[in-house]
Formats: sequence, C-alpha cells, structure tokens
Amino acid sequence: MDEKVQRRGNKGGTGRAVEGADPAPAASPRAGVRPGPAPETLPTGSPGPLPPEALLFPRHLALWERVAPLMDGRDLAHDALHLARVYRWALRLAPEAGADPDLAGAAALVHDLDPTPKHGPDRPAAGERSSRAAEPLLAEAGYAARERAPILAAVAASSWSRGLEPAGPLGAVLQDADRLDAIGAVGIARVFACHQSMAAAGSDGLFYHPGDPFAEAGRRLDDRRHALDHFAVKLLKLADGMHTPTARAEAARRHEAMLTFLSQLWGELENRGQLP
Ligand SMILES: [Fe+2]
Repeated sequence: MDEKVQRRGNKGGTGRAVEGADPAPAASPRAGVRPGPAPETLPTGSPGPLPPEALLFPRHLALWERVAPLMDGRDLAHDALHLARVYRWALRLAPEAGADPDLAGAAALVHDLDPTPKHGPDRPAAGERSSRAAEPLLAEAGYAARERAPILAAVAASSWSRGLEPAGPLGAVLQDADRLDAIGAVGIARVFACHQSMAAAGSDGLFYHPGDPFAEAGRRLDDRRHALDHFAVKLLKLADGMHTPTARAEAARRHEAMLTFLSQLWGELENRGQLP
C-alpha cells in the first residue's frame, strides 16, 4: 500500500468531551461535540436550507431563491446542500483573504450552475459555463455590473480540473471553499455519491478496481471508472493547494481523515481486519 495511505492519528479531536455541551446520545457521532448554531430554513417557498449567516445579506436570499430550484435533480455531490456548505465556508474565509463577504457568498451560490456531469468530456469548462449562467441571476438579485464582474471571474476560474489560478481574493476564497467540500468526511461521501450517479447514467464505473483497488501493482489510475482512484488523482492533492490559512488548517484535518478512511478500507479489502 502507498506510504501516504498508512494509518495516522486523527487530529480532529472529535471524541473529546466538552464541558457544558448539550449531551448527545452515547452512540451518536456527535457525543462530546459542541453543537453549532441550529440551521435555519428560508422563510417562504425555499427548497433547501441556507445557513443563518445568509440573513445578514438580503441579496443572498434573493439569489438562493433563484439558484436552489435549478439544483433539483442534480447528483447528491452537487446539490443545493453542497452550495450551502461552500457558501458557509466562503463567508468564513472572505475576511482573511481581503474579499467582500457579500460577493464571496454570492460566488459560492452560483458557482455550480452548469449541469455538465463530472464524467463529461467538457467538464473542465463548467466554471466558464456556470459564470455565463450566473450573470442574469446576479443581476436579478441586485448585484451591479461592477460587482458581478469579480464574482463571474471567480466562478470561471473555480474548476480544479481547469487548473486556473484564482481570480483575485474572491477567486481564492471560492476555490478554497469549494475544495474543502471535496475532502474530509463530506468529500468521502461525495465521491461515492458522484460515482453512483455516473453509474446510474450508464458509465461502467465501479467502487474500486477489483484486482488492484489501491493501484499497488502499478496500473494506470482511472477515476472515471474507479471511484477509489479519485483519491489519488485529485482528493489527496487538494490540501496542498489551499490559499488561505484557515482553509489550509481545515484541509490538513480533512486530509488526515481521508488517510484514516483509506487505511481502514485497505485493511477491510485485504481481509486484515481483526476478528472477535
Ligand atoms: Fe462545487
């Protein structure tokens, strides 16, 4: 097995009890974890949750009401909940990058408008297409042309597979926020959700290569066919490319979580788990 995929300690510290925290059931993964603010649901006719921070930015609510319905039918890795998670991180990272949180939040909400499937050959241009689709929605939500320009530039340069440098502070925030959502526990969930969606659409995808799951025998990685290959092709590279200090720290924690997952999976697939 690759040296990088050896078991390491989980630095997340989620098993530590927090004094005074609302106790969760012992069997819950939330046991001992301080609860965050309760998510709120948008007031009327809203198709999904947006974090309560959105209440500080009325134009975000207007944008969400236009964007969220467009995400119906998307695979679970690229649905409205993905937008909400990216949005929350964009707001958090914006100040340290010197970006306007109002514009950063808007960029997060419109960054995945293009519905091209992940396995489509023109997927790398999804950022540019999302940018074009975003312009009228941003205008309807009240963003002026001078505000739309940096948002659209950030979205156009957001795709990892395109390999573009971020478009200024706003682009750095969007890349970090979107890429954080590709790694860690949520990233693990998303990669398999995405590949299941691709398989349902007729790809010949598999959970992993049946004869060489971790490509230890030198086979060529093929993450369009094998979901597990996506870790080596992309996910384990993302932590090194974060732009903001907070994203770098969070990415390091999520990177460790993926290594722990891969180590456990390697043991299970190799039948090296301990029997009772
Ligand atoms: Fe995204």
